[in-house]
Amino acid sequence: MATQGKLDVLILGSGGREHSLLKACLRSPRVAKVRVAPGNGGMALEAECLEVDAANPAAVLELVRRTHSTFVIVGPEVPLAAGVVDALEAAGIPAYGPLASGARLEASKAFSKDFMVRHKVPTAASETFRALAPALEYVRKQPVPIVIKASGLAAGKGVVIATSHAEAEAALRDMMETKVFGASGDEVVIEEFMQGEEASIMLMVCRDEYLMLPPSQDHKRVGEGDTGLNTGGMGAYAPTTVVTPEVDRRLREEIIAPTLRGLKADGIDYRGTLYVGIMVTATGPKVVEFNVRFGDPECQVLMPSLETDPVQIMEDIAHGRFRPSAVKLRPGATIIVVLAAGGYPGEIRKGDPITLPASLPEGVDIVHGGTKRLPDGRVVTTGGRVLGVVAHGPTLQEAALRAYAVVPQIKFEGCHYRRDIGYRQLRRDGVL
Ligand code: AMP
Ligand code: GLY
Repeated sequence: MATQGKLDVLILGSGGREHSLLKACLRSPRVAKVRVAPGNGGMALEAECLEVDAANPAAVLELVRRTHSTFVIVGPEVPLAAGVVDALEAAGIPAYGPLASGARLEASKAFSKDFMVRHKVPTAASETFRALAPALEYVRKQPVPIVIKASGLAAGKGVVIATSHAEAEAALRDMMETKVFGASGDEVVIEEFMQGEEASIMLMVCRDEYLMLPPSQDHKRVGEGDTGLNTGGMGAYAPTTVVTPEVDRRLREEIIAPTLRGLKADGIDYRGTLYVGIMVTATGPKVVEFNVRFGDPECQVLMPSLETDPVQIMEDIAHGRFRPSAVKLRPGATIIVVLAAGGYPGEIRKGDPITLPASLPEGVDIVHGGTKRLPDGRVVTTGGRVLGVVAHGPTLQEAALRAYAVVPQIKFEGCHYRRDIGYRQLRRDGVL
């Protein structure tokens, strides 16, 4: 369909997710040139990196005009919630990612819970509060564990799973009184704790049509065996068979169909990624959260699982002409093992030089997250999730062996990583 000239792409973002999107652009026959703003140390080796305040739609539009970019891929949620795609569309520049109206599904948990209740999408029972006293009174009457969520964006840190009433009260005071998440804690959602196994469902949505990418799972805890503090994600893999054919059917019928119908009924023109975080409970799949962008690190394992050009898909979605039935997926499994900075997820070390392997075996790639390229060309650590090793294989076991053969060849002071990424699926596969 896309017979027009090739694209001059601008990617917004600076993490591992955006580096994998950059790699997809570099492989794409649709792309003539690709730039990144702001980018990171790894992306700087492959493309021009530019400065921009991505949360400011006018600044993004100015950069797009200055660089003569013809297509914009928005990585993170903050620019989406700020209305960057709205501003670009109004100026006639196609962009991949939902409008601000759709981005509210992630930017406001209160809105998202209300949306699920109105459109009968299965999720944890919840109540929303704007004042501390009634929230405290409510929480004291609920069983524990109970989940306390700041409604607004909190860089993935706004959720507390309280195992006692004292912990629940402390979380409410932190959010609503001390304002540890600023205005994001003005409204708080208190919800029932769901027991089960989580999966990340990434949909590429074009209004009524959608492509479900292979179901993936990430590892949020810092320690092996899913112990220790929560992180942005220490690794991920796809596909996962926790989404059985029966779960897949119920997911499509009970969650995805009413969600897309609900968006339409609410007058929301949704085009972009819809990340449905689900809990596979004893009574079926339920929504943990909606995000309006690719997961990080899930994106890094999903881009290589597409045989069809992901940029072509994003372009078709931006233009409202997507045909998911034409998309081809690659067989096999993909894994990412994240290498984190010393101290992560607490206070991290920064500025440590990174040694990378001189060459990589077939099927293995390195994706940068928290890195920076110095003027002298050296690449150093700057962020918590420094790098990820991505490997593809005919089976998850093969992919994991390939990734873990490369991981120890990457060296920087304080580096730590989990040695058990994929263990749940490897157990299900009977190889662990
Ligand atoms: P969220 O930012 O809403 O994804 O929450 C972060 C993480 O907290 C999720 O990925 C889950 O692991 C956990 N979580 C959130 N809500 C619930 C819930 N209602 N029951 C159990 N775990 C939850
Ligand atoms: N990996 C979880 C997220 O991107 O929100």
